[in-house]
Amino acid sequence: MNTDRKIRIAPSILSADFANFGAEIRAIEDQGADWVHVDVMDGHFVPNLTFGPPAVKAFRPHVTTVMDVHLMIAPIDPFIDAYAEAGADVLTAHVEAGPHTHRTLQAIRAAGMKAGVALNPGTPAEAVEHLLDLADLVCVMTVNPGFGGQKFIDMTAKIRRLRQMIGDRPVLIEIDGGVDPKTAPLVAAAGADVLVAGSAVFRGGSVEQADVYGRNMRAIRDAVETVWA
Ligand code: DX5
Ligand code: ZN
Repeated sequence: MNTDRKIRIAPSILSADFANFGAEIRAIEDQGADWVHVDVMDGHFVPNLTFGPPAVKAFRPHVTTVMDVHLMIAPIDPFIDAYAEAGADVLTAHVEAGPHTHRTLQAIRAAGMKAGVALNPGTPAEAVEHLLDLADLVCVMTVNPGFGGQKFIDMTAKIRRLRQMIGDRPVLIEIDGGVDPKTAPLVAAAGADVLVAGSAVFRGGSVEQADVYGRNMRAIRDAVETVWA
């Protein structure tokens, strides 16, 4: 079927050891991570709080792949330059975070980053229809954002719809929340390009036992390849 497509795995360091981010990032990259996903939460847009620009800047030297920063904050625009300076490669804004996502995506690109736009489970695909020329990535949330380890919510119909809407544009579809070897094939078959996974990658492993991260990522990749075979 889709033998020319390659799934990218983006482990979320929300599930890493918070006292050891540098080593955790190096461990997941050594074990085959394609991107590093960084979840920024503000305790306002989502009911949880993680880290801000200085921490993200401290992660930067440890990332040799792509630093994929997912902003779960409102407002966004006053912080765009700080995340550019922190070294984000991809900066993703939620379409629900404010009335001017169009302007936000323009500002992200103007600051030299790839622009992502994220959709909560309750938000229809059509909410980004007029933003696709300004986006490099659409992130489909398959949990309500705020916490790792939640149960997957089936958004495959939305993913298919987005795939159609995107057409030939060079826009990646990223899936975030509850991705594991069981759910990954469903979203991959619907059209996903990038799979964010926190608990399913970090589960059972550590910096000292990083091979577990490798095995966990391989299990996701193998499950996807089975449906693509
Ligand atoms: C949820 C975050 C996700 C989360 C995924 O708000 O955006 O990136 O860490 O975690 P898992 O894979 O555990 O659902
Ligand atoms: Zn995320």
